[in-house]
Amino acid sequence: MQNNKKHKNHELVKDWIGLIQVFTCPEDAETRTALVGLMRQILFELHDFLIKNVGITEEISLKILADDFTDTVINRCPEKKLADVVTGVFDHIAPHAVNVASPYFVGHMTAAIPYFMVHLKAIVAALNQNVVKLETSKVVSVLEKQVVAKIHRLIFNLSDEFYAEHVQNTDTSLGSFMEGGTTANLTALWVARNTALRPKDGFSGIEKKGMMAAYKAYDIDRCVVLVSKRAHYSFRKAGGLLGIGNENIIPVDVDGNNKLKIDALENTIAEIKREGRTKIIAVVGIAGTTETGTVDPLKEIAAICARENIHFHTDAAWGGPTLLSDKYKHLLDGIHLADSVTIDGHKQFYMPMGCGMIYFKNPKSLDAISYHANYVNRRGSVDLGIKTLAGSREANSLILDSALKIMGARGYGMLIEHGIELAADFAEEIKQRDMFQLITEPELNILTYRVCPPELREEMKTADPVRFIKINDELNELNRTIQQEQREAGKSFVSRTVLEQENIFPGSPAGKIVVLRSVLMNPLTNIEILKDILDEQEGLYDMWRNGTLGHEKARKDTDRHGME
Ligand SMILES: Cc1ncc(COP(=O)(O)O)c(C=O)c1O
Repeated sequence: MQNNKKHKNHELVKDWIGLIQVFTCPEDAETRTALVGLMRQILFELHDFLIKNVGITEEISLKILADDFTDTVINRCPEKKLADVVTGVFDHIAPHAVNVASPYFVGHMTAAIPYFMVHLKAIVAALNQNVVKLETSKVVSVLEKQVVAKIHRLIFNLSDEFYAEHVQNTDTSLGSFMEGGTTANLTALWVARNTALRPKDGFSGIEKKGMMAAYKAYDIDRCVVLVSKRAHYSFRKAGGLLGIGNENIIPVDVDGNNKLKIDALENTIAEIKREGRTKIIAVVGIAGTTETGTVDPLKEIAAICARENIHFHTDAAWGGPTLLSDKYKHLLDGIHLADSVTIDGHKQFYMPMGCGMIYFKNPKSLDAISYHANYVNRRGSVDLGIKTLAGSREANSLILDSALKIMGARGYGMLIEHGIELAADFAEEIKQRDMFQLITEPELNILTYRVCPPELREEMKTADPVRFIKINDELNELNRTIQQEQREAGKSFVSRTVLEQENIFPGSPAGKIVVLRSVLMNPLTNIEILKDILDEQEGLYDMWRNGTLGHEKARKDTDRHGME
């Protein structure tokens, strides 16, 4: 269909001369002043809007919003000037985007970022370096190697000589940047798989020959990865992508505190060895699980992996920056014993989306996934694309390097301490309120709880299993409804998940529990705000009891449209 909309006065790219000017900065003072004005709007007005507007979303249904986004034709002529585009984003996008910067937004691992991140992101865009190869990044590639070494040192704390040898070594690599934790975990398992099924006796390795040939060469029927039951679902994706099969990403039981059970790990390994014809290519421990923020017993897992000669990966996508707090770094004890570690920049390094990182203790580990091409990624070069899944990628290392300089380890340490201590205070507040039940104690800065009125709680303690399950189902429905209603009201946000928990009351049967989940990373969130959130949930419970909440729910169900 031809788009015949009329467009006047949008002359920025009306002809070749105009088009060329888009690539050169305008020289006249008036236009430059206008451009600075636009940047000022982005830096201050948008920032102020996000900080001051404590609401999470405007009250408008996704369905109505979606109806405004159905035009699928690219206009032939320019539609808008830059100023109109910016104003359009301010007027029509920002108010309906989710205000993740609000201190009342405590449900996900995405929150406010320091204002200077916007400057740093703008610098990365302006320089537009492509670190896939030195020819498009030069100093930025060596800067990346340096910042990678700094974080490697934070995790593994090896000797001065080690870092002097490897920081700028073109033959070795201590880690790399990528899009996020998902690709970092994938990279860890990719390396682990290729190392476990490496070349031997006339077999040139799984990366070259593929799964069938590898299984034949190693005389096995399958590969498995053992992960905590609370592991992020990215490991299952990796299982699929790497040809291991996501059913071979085997969940290992956790204890009442959601930590991987060491005896269950031992039993699983023993059973797999008894069965035979199976290679365990990695065991994964989590430093800050997605749902409960728990840290697995890393030291004990490391000892088992060392004994069994299995790759030990730690997923510290969330918890990694805890190492910057002198007060709490002990919570990650044993992380230095891992063979590889995932950390996300866009989580507790407070970087803009999206930045993940993978680190390997052994500077030669990444050789297992190296690729070369004649025009790029030459052997012995600093072409960072040699050992990454991604090809072209932006210079996120420049953002982290600058942020570390601006914040210092202490700045990040204070953020970590605020989150952990606030979570402990919040847990106390929840315990003091009759209406709530704390489900998982916070270890870092994530906790889960549920609305559980005292009369039902008392009944559950002595109920027979059938009645217990019935009450639990009712509570699940109640908590699901309260979370949805609070989100729809748009003043505050906690997320929800389902945990399989046993012993929520001494001796009670295992069951699936819908829990409310709080992630406390925003330094502007305080206990008073959290009390407001609990008050709101109590109010919603009262409405539910009076039968008015169901009415609201029915009205909005038709509106939700994908926001389940
Ligand atoms: C522990 C953990 N690992 C991995 C991931 C995946 O990270 P990303 O969303 O950056 O791909 C997450 C995301 O929440 C996570 O919590």
